[in-house]
Amino acid sequence: MDPRDRLIVALDLPSVQAAEAMIEKLGDAVSFYKIGYQLAFAGGLPLADALVRANKQVFVDLKLHDIGNTVGKGVESVAKLGATFLTVHAYPQTMQAAADARAGSKLKILAVTVLTSYDNADLSAAGYDFNVTGLVAKRAAQARDIGIDGLVCSAEEAAAVRAIAGSAMALVTPGIRPAGAAAGDQKRVMTPAKAIAAGADYLVVGRPIVEAPDPRAAAQAIVAEIAQATGP
Ligand code: C5P
Repeated sequence: MDPRDRLIVALDLPSVQAAEAMIEKLGDAVSFYKIGYQLAFAGGLPLADALVRANKQVFVDLKLHDIGNTVGKGVESVAKLGATFLTVHAYPQTMQAAADARAGSKLKILAVTVLTSYDNADLSAAGYDFNVTGLVAKRAAQARDIGIDGLVCSAEEAAAVRAIAGSAMALVTPGIRPAGAAAGDQKRVMTPAKAIAAGADYLVVGRPIVEAPDPRAAAQAIVAEIAQATGP
């Protein structure tokens, strides 16, 4: 795989105009974009279609979780946008509905194991009787058994998750921070090279690129680090 295609830039920006300006700045340095809550709910979903027509790949990160029928209908609509990835929370009913609904389309479903801003204390506060490692492992095994295409997990967990998921599932890791970058609210972070070495297939990077003084240079530096880590 081209190292550039392993970098997914999170368009966590307030408007379509700001997103379009960022896409323009990044140019051919970036081939894969993630549209999440902030941009999607500010009119950004039609941008997915425009990106697909411009030969970019799109990750719709809306982390679906609802009754199966509603999840399935939502997945069918996202498949029609031409997106490559869509996230759902890793609850068995939700994952099953999403897996069934994406059949026959090019859309791949990613299950979110445990959000990378969560640590053990946050899980306990949310009422879970599991630590992060235990819950990630349980959900990864359930996603594999249901036939989900990939998992979102922290790079710290990637090696353990790979052992459960096998080689066929794509591992997508946010919480990536080049050396020296601010962690922000992420509690489990890793550098791009270390994340690849740990078994990540795709890296999701937001603030270290979109808030950089020179976003294109920041993206190119990360792609170079990925290229070095993946080898020729
Ligand atoms: O700015 P930063 O690089 O922290 O952005 C990470 C992106 O990855 C955000 O869009 C966030 O919603 C997303 N994400 C995450 N943790 C997950 C799943 C998605 O940080 N488990």
